[in-house]
Amino acid sequence: MKSAELKTNSRASSGEELSVDALSDPYLERLCELAARDQWKLEDLDWRSLDVSALPEVFRQAAADGFAQLQWGERTAQLAAERLLGLLPEGPARAFIATQRTDEARHVAFFEQVIRLLGCEGRVRPSVQQLMREVQEAETPEELMLGMQILIEGAAHSLIMEGARLVGAFDDGGGLDRPLQSMKTVVGEWMPRLLARDESRHIAFGLHALRARIPRLDHAARRRLEEKVAHWGEKVLEQARDPDLVYGIGEDGDAVCGRLIEDLNLRIAQVGLETRIAPLKAT
Ligand SMILES: [Fe+2]
Ligand SMILES: [Fe+2]
Repeated sequence: MKSAELKTNSRASSGEELSVDALSDPYLERLCELAARDQWKLEDLDWRSLDVSALPEVFRQAAADGFAQLQWGERTAQLAAERLLGLLPEGPARAFIATQRTDEARHVAFFEQVIRLLGCEGRVRPSVQQLMREVQEAETPEELMLGMQILIEGAAHSLIMEGARLVGAFDDGGGLDRPLQSMKTVVGEWMPRLLARDESRHIAFGLHALRARIPRLDHAARRRLEEKVAHWGEKVLEQARDPDLVYGIGEDGDAVCGRLIEDLNLRIAQVGLETRIAPLKAT
């Protein structure tokens, strides 16, 4: 679906109330300032210090597959930002989304570089592709923001922080092998310091924008949004619980998913929606 075909059920997007996106907004202006201040470049990172070639292929393949799911999410975020740019009027919200589009292009390139380093082709699961496609083709800007900035980027942010915590425990007083030190640099340092910081801004935008827009939705649009929380929330959790991503690296998957549900439900409550994501039943 092209951005021009986006429907909107939001009264905020019609007539004089369009100004919800066009009005001066100090919070969004501040987010744009932070985006400008915190820009970073892929080439500023010391990729030459990394070498994981001594890791067993089975490990490198599993890692490449995990990063491939994240990269697919980044591509989807880039396309979602593109769609929002085509929808929002000139103003601080649109200006912020332009910064997000730039961030997402950098994130796609970041994971491309990481996967290349691993020397294996990352395989994206069809179920991840399906979820991303559904969100990317959302029919209203509110659904797009809910699926992207709150659920997918929210989950990605939480998982990046979980990964950083996990590899933080690798430390043995500076005596790590080069391959493990390399993974620690990527997962324990670059991802939380650079990617997660960018994602925090995107999530902050989603929270702020949805808090302004949801109260202006009509009953049917609001109900549809609540249904999306349940539907996409469950799909996000299914992916997070997948053995390749969490259990496969020796982490306590149930605990990770429990914290993820808490994070997501907190944000869902913060935008004023009532549906909550329930823990997945054991399969
Ligand atoms: Fe991203
Ligand atoms: Fe993002």
